[in-house]
Amino acid sequence: MNLIKYGYRISQSSQFSRSISSSTTHHPTIYFTGIQPTGIPHLGNFFGSIEPWTELQNTVDKETQMMLSVVDQHAISLGPLPADQLRSNTHQMTASLIACGVDPKRTLLFRQSDVPHIAQLSWILGSLQTTSKLARLPQYKEKQQRFKKGDIPVGLLTYPLLQAADVLTFKATTVPVGEDQSQHLNLLGGLAYAFNKTYNTEIFPIPKQLTRESHARIRSLRDPEKKMSKSSGGERSRIEITDSRESIIEKCTKAQSDNAGKVTYDKENRLAVSNLLDLYSAVTKMPISEIQFSEWTTLDLKMNLAEAIDKKLKPIREKFDELQKSGEVDKILLENGEAACEIAEKNLKEIRRVVGFL
Ligand code: AMP
Ligand code: TRP
Repeated sequence: MNLIKYGYRISQSSQFSRSISSSTTHHPTIYFTGIQPTGIPHLGNFFGSIEPWTELQNTVDKETQMMLSVVDQHAISLGPLPADQLRSNTHQMTASLIACGVDPKRTLLFRQSDVPHIAQLSWILGSLQTTSKLARLPQYKEKQQRFKKGDIPVGLLTYPLLQAADVLTFKATTVPVGEDQSQHLNLLGGLAYAFNKTYNTEIFPIPKQLTRESHARIRSLRDPEKKMSKSSGGERSRIEITDSRESIIEKCTKAQSDNAGKVTYDKENRLAVSNLLDLYSAVTKMPISEIQFSEWTTLDLKMNLAEAIDKKLKPIREKFDELQKSGEVDKILLENGEAACEIAEKNLKEIRRVVGFL
């Protein structure tokens, strides 16, 4: 299957390519990604990461293993959350993923903390990494600014080790993530390489990053300069996938626009209106050039957008409610946690032998 044909870019640091070409071990293709349990996802998460996964899930060969982890341990890297909130965020994210089309029969969808092997591997990988390299990563530098000097949680520094351990515990070869994760993916490649070299083994594949060429960037409804986000911009700046029809209409009609007459697509002079058209295009899958908007007022655009979003989200909302009522999410998490543990147990045995723990 040629993923490039489907608009994906596959990348891997060139520094590791020699080790791969000289490698004799064949690692079967395994797709792996992680998603933070932020509760109910918004349209930015949906178009930026969930929908691409479901498309991939429906595209790759049936025999290829696909794994998606709700990374609840990463969720406390900036400090603890109230326990009920973390539990409910994980539950809601899992239900949302299934409601959005992640098929738990096809994708091994599991909760990170159900697989303790990951934390053990993270510790092992820490022995191969320096604090200064971790402290130089741009995401660390940016996020540490939220804390007073001396108050930075250890988890913020070691976050990328846990992410590397997520992938390597399952010997995953291919990691679909956005551009923003490239720094973590490079570090991951480096760790896999360092482990193999240190222990003179080929136990780990050097995982590749898989990124969509045309990554839909969904913008805030209140400030078109910013991306749609969970943590900023306020409730009206984002549409969540379980929003009611009334709420979708309200948020769309109150979205920022202008009074410059009939709708035109002009990012330079009419960013807010152009962003609403971009969103309409993402929802309807119609390229901008095919949308007949020349006679629309901005209100027409907002109403059409609200209609299209509601049409897209209605079945998702219904499936989410059904899942909440049925108790199915807990069952899926339990079963898939056990299945993920089985794979992890086998791999960790091998890794522990290599390291000298066994
Ligand atoms: P976050 O929890 O904000 O880090 O989002 C998780 C993932 O969702 C990111 O890595 C992106 O792939 C995707 N995402 C989040 N917000 C947006 C957005 N506004 N537009 C497109 N993709 C987004
Ligand atoms: N750091 C990723 C993000 O913020 C989430 C993540 C955790 C992840 N573990 C992973 C992504 C393993 C890919 C593979 O989006």
